[in-house]
Amino acid sequence: MKAAYIEETGPPENIIYGDLPQPTPHGSEVLVKVAAVALNPVDTYIRNGANYWELPKPFVVGCDLAGTVEAVGPDAVRVKVGDRVWATNQGLMGRQGTFAEYCAVDECWLHPTPESVSDATAAACALVGITAHLGLFRDAKLQAGESVFVHGGTGGVGSMVVQMAKAAGARAITTGGNEEKCARCKELGADVAVNYKTQDVAEAVKAFAPAGVNVVWETLREPDFDQLVSYLAERGRLVLMAGRDARPPFPVGPFYVKGCSLHGVVMFKASPEEMRTCAQNMNRWMAEGKLQAQIGQTLPLSEAAAAHRMQEENTLGNTGTLAGKIVLQP
Ligand SMILES: NC(=O)c1ccc[n+]([C@@H]2O[C@H](COP(=O)([O-])OP(=O)(O)OC[C@H]3O[C@@H](n4cnc5c(N)ncnc54)[C@H](OP(=O)(O)O)[C@@H]3O)[C@@H](O)[C@H]2O)c1
Repeated sequence: MKAAYIEETGPPENIIYGDLPQPTPHGSEVLVKVAAVALNPVDTYIRNGANYWELPKPFVVGCDLAGTVEAVGPDAVRVKVGDRVWATNQGLMGRQGTFAEYCAVDECWLHPTPESVSDATAAACALVGITAHLGLFRDAKLQAGESVFVHGGTGGVGSMVVQMAKAAGARAITTGGNEEKCARCKELGADVAVNYKTQDVAEAVKAFAPAGVNVVWETLREPDFDQLVSYLAERGRLVLMAGRDARPPFPVGPFYVKGCSLHGVVMFKASPEEMRTCAQNMNRWMAEGKLQAQIGQTLPLSEAAAAHRMQEENTLGNTGTLAGKIVLQP
């Protein structure tokens, strides 16, 4: 089969698009014929040698996939041949990745793809949607009628946070790096989209929620806590999920005096059961059209190296050339 893989960690050019043996599903694994995969910033950190855990060799890059069950291992009971499925959390914690024509995935990570939902949509919502759901509902316990602020409403996670907040009956204010991105944020349901390059975000948040927002979701790798804490209402919840090396100052007094709480979210440590809870709501919202994929680029799988380069330029280089996910198709 064709796959995008690395023999050594390093720059995007280390990604080889070539032939690897098709995996055989063992135990409760399922062989998925991949129709679409999506790229995430974490894929680029791992490929670059972040060294969070030992990688299989060769290592197929990628966490997300959607496709059709081709074969099932002897102990697989949850799916059958021909089922359409999606998954995330592959290529992580030592597992093999998804950027290939076929993947063997333990069935505990597989979710059914609703009939009306495309493989590209399911793959593009996978990791970012599970992350947003865990943070908003398991951790920040967002309620209908509350309000949410998130940076980057057309970003991978930001676009999910905006849409899930709205689907849950909350109000959402977000940012975009240009007018086109702000317009897209509104299409995704944001009540307010602020151009952070030309407008004063703090003023816009104050106008949107004079007593502060209930949940602030930070997607940036260098959070400005003075700013974020000032956005929070009494009993507000601040969600963090990026910036492993960030060590910014923190305004202790303004935070605790409002009775706020801080939540760190890491998708890949959620259990399969926790992810299934997220996936059930995501599937319902995708089928109802309330959760759309924010796809910025669609490429053939053979372009995996170029896709990594583009993602890295945006995540680390802040070039702003991408609006959302890169989806690749074998
Ligand atoms: N902990 C976890 O489980 C987890 C899960 C997923 C992702 N992450 C991490 O979360 C981060 C975001 O991931 P992602 O997939 O959402 O990335 P992404 O798709 O690249 O989105 C990043 C967003 O940040 C916005 N942005 C950049 N600089 C900004 C600034 N100065 N002010 C306002 N907005 C700004 C961009 O907006 P514009 O395009 O409008 O400039 C873009 O929408 C990454 O570091 C990723 O590794 C962590």
